[in-house]
Amino acid sequence: MSFRDKQLTEKEKAGILRAAEAVKQINGGKRQRVFVRTFGCQQNEADSEKILGMAVNMGYVPTEDADIADLIVINTCAVREHAEKKALSVIGQYKHCKRRKPELVIAVCGCMVSQLHRTDELKNKYPYVDFTFGTSDIHLFPQLLEERLKGGKRSFTLPPDEPAVAENIPIHRLSSYRAWVSIMYGCNNFCSYCIVPYVRGRERSRCPEEVIKEVRGLVEAGYKEITLLGQNVNSYGRDCSFDCNFSELLRRLDKIDGEWILRFMTSHPKDASFELIDVIAGSKHIAHQFHLPAQSGSDPVLKKMNRVYTREKYMEIMNYIKAKMPDCVITTDIIVGFPGETDEDFEKTLDLLSSVRYDMVFSFIYSPRKGTPAASMEQVPEEVKGVRMKKLLDLQTEIASELSAPYGGRRLRVLCCGRSQTDEGMLEGRTEGNKTVLFEGDASLEGRFVDVEVTQAGAFVLRGKLI
Ligand code: 5AD
Ligand code: SF4
Repeated sequence: MSFRDKQLTEKEKAGILRAAEAVKQINGGKRQRVFVRTFGCQQNEADSEKILGMAVNMGYVPTEDADIADLIVINTCAVREHAEKKALSVIGQYKHCKRRKPELVIAVCGCMVSQLHRTDELKNKYPYVDFTFGTSDIHLFPQLLEERLKGGKRSFTLPPDEPAVAENIPIHRLSSYRAWVSIMYGCNNFCSYCIVPYVRGRERSRCPEEVIKEVRGLVEAGYKEITLLGQNVNSYGRDCSFDCNFSELLRRLDKIDGEWILRFMTSHPKDASFELIDVIAGSKHIAHQFHLPAQSGSDPVLKKMNRVYTREKYMEIMNYIKAKMPDCVITTDIIVGFPGETDEDFEKTLDLLSSVRYDMVFSFIYSPRKGTPAASMEQVPEEVKGVRMKKLLDLQTEIASELSAPYGGRRLRVLCCGRSQTDEGMLEGRTEGNKTVLFEGDASLEGRFVDVEVTQAGAFVLRGKLI
């Protein structure tokens, strides 16, 4: 399919605008409130900002109180079973809101509702849910809402086989200094444990001019930190005929003047080229930070995961990153207890952690996902998974403490992100490498770069004082 084929048609675009106007008319100028609850990854957070953007465009005012909302949207995640259970239980809580206010509209979107068994479940067991829409159908939200407000049937559509890339959806950004920019959607990799390719469809890249326009606009509007998003950002452009791969996109974005930091996530080791690392190392704005999910340190497990790289290949990239950027903050994702993982396989993962010495590891206990190949492989008992997880966390805490220790006494430039969620009274800052630093100061510093001297270097959090 060519890039052009993937854009919305003029007719589709006109349909969206017409529906948005129609919703305004139906609500007749009455003050309406929208509440959006988000589960899952940054891509979902970015999608929720689009849903809010469209809702605001239709005359709704965002609220953080579901009890007073006229429209509730629950944006779900399906990557692990726990995330789905949590979303279902939260949807259940909104039943009472509907009982109190029958005209309330409840919509469910995101990865969970792109699975037939879940839409069936919502249709049959959650009669107060009005409609669902998948991640590639976000732009249809105004039309679905209009239909329902006009008294149409409840609707539970599954995503199309060949979804489009919808540009110019209004975005209601929740921060005035940190922004998400989706650069591609979907994933082609089919790692054997992962539900994402089934629920988010094949890779679709946005055109580079659109991405550059959006980022430039954000920098001009004063945004200080911009994170490019995609399930597999470094395969950007592969699905299209335009002549711009991910390294080239970064090169072009880095030319945008201003005081700002560029981040991206998530990368796949198979597409992490030396060229990409060279671009980051030689850039002005791209953070010296690399999140590169390894998933396992054992070749037989990597093979069963369909990760298409070996540990040796992964280490080659790591060594290149470290040689080019000794200050680079390196993080990863690890799955513990993948089907068939033996003690020996797991030891190899621990050994990978010791060899790479990651600043941070996001570790997940394997969770079988219906319809994925790994779900029908021989499973590791839950107790074994638990014991392994604890071992991994202990080792990583030790490594992270050792890596943090030299930060003591250092002066760091951090972006102040307001009050800390974990330690009230303290401000939270993010270093270029995305490490958290807590320090005392005035909340008015939020959204500004400040210099901090580290007074205490813990494994996960640095503490410091303003200079
Ligand atoms: N079980 C556990 N963890 C998973 N991940 C993806 N699918 C699963 C699963 N079925 C993890 C991977 C991925 C991260 C976002 O979530 O480590 O990188
Ligand atoms: Fe899932 Fe693998 Fe795609 Fe990441 S690269 S979203 S883990 S299938």
